[in-house]
Amino acid sequence: MKVKVNRKTCIGCGICPALAPEVFYMDKENIACVKDDSHYIEHEKSITESILSCPVNAISLDEK
Ligand code: F3S
Repeated sequence: MKVKVNRKTCIGCGICPALAPEVFYMDKENIACVKDDSHYIEHEKSITESILSCPVNAISLDEK
């Protein structure tokens, strides 16, 4: 599984890096990004919380 953030949809609310700081960070443009070294299995719970909490549904899972 790969976590993805749709850069066009993210409004920079900052919820996902607050819920899962091991996985998400905000870039210079205040858009959420996924850390390269983050692993879905290790952070499954906080990633799921982030997906459910994102107000614009910008976070998705890629089954790879
Ligand atoms: Fe953006 Fe949603 Fe995270 S709006 S900052 S992807 S919770």
